Amino acid sequence: MAYRGLMPTKAFRAELLAVRSDPARDGGAGIAHHEDGLLVVEDGIVAAFEDHAALAERWPNLEIEDHRGRLLIPGFIDTHVHYPQTERIASYGLQLLDWLEQHIFPAEQAFADRAHADAIAAFFLDELLRNGTTSALVFATVHAASVEALFEAALARDMRIVSGKTLMDRNAPEALRDTVESGRAESEALIRAWRGRGRLGYAITPRFALTSTPEQLASAGALHAAHPDTLVHTHLSENLFEIEAVAAAYPEACDYLDVYARHGLVTDRSVFAHGIHLDDGCMARMADAGAAIAFCPTSNLFLGSGLFDLARADAAGVRVGIGTDVGAGTSFSILHTLGEAYKVCQIRGASLDPFRALWLATASGAAALGLGDRIGSLAPGQEADFLLLDTQATPLLARRTNGSPLAERLFALQILGDDRAIDATYLRGVQAHRRS
Ligand code: GUN
Ligand code: ZN
Repeated sequence: MAYRGLMPTKAFRAELLAVRSDPARDGGAGIAHHEDGLLVVEDGIVAAFEDHAALAERWPNLEIEDHRGRLLIPGFIDTHVHYPQTERIASYGLQLLDWLEQHIFPAEQAFADRAHADAIAAFFLDELLRNGTTSALVFATVHAASVEALFEAALARDMRIVSGKTLMDRNAPEALRDTVESGRAESEALIRAWRGRGRLGYAITPRFALTSTPEQLASAGALHAAHPDTLVHTHLSENLFEIEAVAAAYPEACDYLDVYARHGLVTDRSVFAHGIHLDDGCMARMADAGAAIAFCPTSNLFLGSGLFDLARADAAGVRVGIGTDVGAGTSFSILHTLGEAYKVCQIRGASLDPFRALWLATASGAAALGLGDRIGSLAPGQEADFLLLDTQATPLLARRTNGSPLAERLFALQILGDDRAIDATYLRGVQAHRRS
């Protein structure tokens, strides 16, 4: 075994695939594919991602984990998900505002109890790993301790998780409301306590325009300006009744995005969930700001919110990542979510290419989170977060993919695959999940 740094050098032999740039823009120049490849990891960082034959000579004494027959890709990045809603997934019958009031707000009140938050955080993160998701931008609840529970559990697993205390000072049950001052103070305390620990990041998190007063949105904008290393994470333009209510609550704003822009919340570190009903002007302003949208197809279909217009976002040059948005989303599986993204695009008249879909769920998601230099591509120098896909996971997947070219196998994994197709998940080169 070769020792170069703090940890032994590791090597993984498999079919390697990473999509490092948008195939729709460069014709696939950023697709790195090695049918018989070797991923070499030193101190948790990618040292090489090449053909096995080329590397075996350069590192002659490497001990190699042999995963031939598996497809090794970057870990998935979930750019929008709510950990406190884990147990409320599949809650029947309502659209956004009633669903929040009747299903979600009661469940979130239970996170005042730290033991409950610890238990759900552990289950949630293990579920991400089972689905091949190695990084996520995560909503917690209004309770600061709900963020601490998630951060502690992520630190213990060495996951790259970004989260923050939800800010909500109106239009929510009393038990879920903070104030401008308590929201600011608790956010600031969390930023100071957790900055620089493990691979964690902080997101200033006003839930959405309806549950914050203008004063709280202004405070959130000021907090982000004071801590420019934070992200801004919120919801935007999801449901038509929501949009109408936002227009009534903020008559001075020209549209929903403008509500956030007026309060300093639209920057190149902002991630907006949904953005379904945005016009070209809005998309152009988002692109100018460098803000990102989390496309959450299973949620948008489940709540009947609408069909995200990926072509419109593309035309404007808006960055897009993929979000599961559990518990409105119906699966933790990014593979399954990409299958639903494909169908939403089909209804809109465009076929989402499987390599582009993979890029959206990895490198593009990483860029949306401001982490494009560290994760998402398995390029040398990046953190070695990856997973092994198994096209033999089910009899149907095997029958559909055996003997097929890469594009077809990848597409079949997105249409037919889910957690069953995740053979193993690795964080910085260390196995974090193995399918039993
Ligand atoms: N808008 C405000 N809060 C939420 C939430 O929890 N889920 C979804 N899908 N939309 C929201
Ligand atoms: Zn959401």
